[in-house]
Amino acid sequence: MIYRDKILSMEKEKRIDVQFTTNIFVYTPESWAKIADEIALIDSTAFGGGVPLERVRDNFSHPNFEDPSLLTVLLYSKLGLVIGYSQAEQSWTKVSARIVRTAIAPEYRGRGLVGNLMNRMETELKSRGVTTLNRKVRTEGGYADAIRRHYKDKIIADYTDDIHPMTERLFVIKL
Ligand SMILES: CC(C)(COP(=O)(O)OP(=O)(O)OC[C@H]1O[C@@H](n2cnc3c(N)ncnc32)[C@H](O)[C@@H]1OP(=O)(O)O)[C@@H](O)C(=O)NCCC(=O)NCCS
Repeated sequence: MIYRDKILSMEKEKRIDVQFTTNIFVYTPESWAKIADEIALIDSTAFGGGVPLERVRDNFSHPNFEDPSLLTVLLYSKLGLVIGYSQAEQSWTKVSARIVRTAIAPEYRGRGLVGNLMNRMETELKSRGVTTLNRKVRTEGGYADAIRRHYKDKIIADYTDDIHPMTERLFVIKL
């Protein structure tokens, strides 16, 4: 954690040239062990709501990585810190996919980095035959509006499923 804090403060002070890379995560117990704490920290700040970090980490990995239809893309800062992730589930028909969850570390939000992450995700999904993407997003913080601004006429449907009509929006997007 001290290493992470040091990197964050260096990047904040712009003492290093910050670049971002993406990677398709290939699960092995060892590869997961390397990034589990970073992911759990991001996940708990985004969705945790007071759940202990250890539980967030376990919930994230199990049964998640046993599911072959699930694709995980990671976003890294230049020094190799995992600062964001997105997961998608490809449908059994193969031609559509659903974004399961996406989150960026709080320190890196508001810089459009979700675009880096989702571009990589979409390229990979297209290579697997996906032509339409389903996303359920929070309206809070303007994220649904960011989706509208980014995808424009690629949005096939923009609707509510009436579960949380005031706070969530569903999109079907043509890739
Ligand atoms: C939601 C979240 C992932 C957004 O990430 P972010 O990098 O902070 O998003 P930003 O507001 O900086 O980026 C949005 C910008 O990226 C652009 N963008 C580019 N590609 C995009 C894409 N594929 N999807 C969405 N936005 C995209 C948008 O158009 C917008 O730009 P604009 O404001 O100039 O129009 C982040 O705030 C987060 O982790 N929140 C907590 C967890 C959460 O709510 N996750 C989503 C669940 S619905």
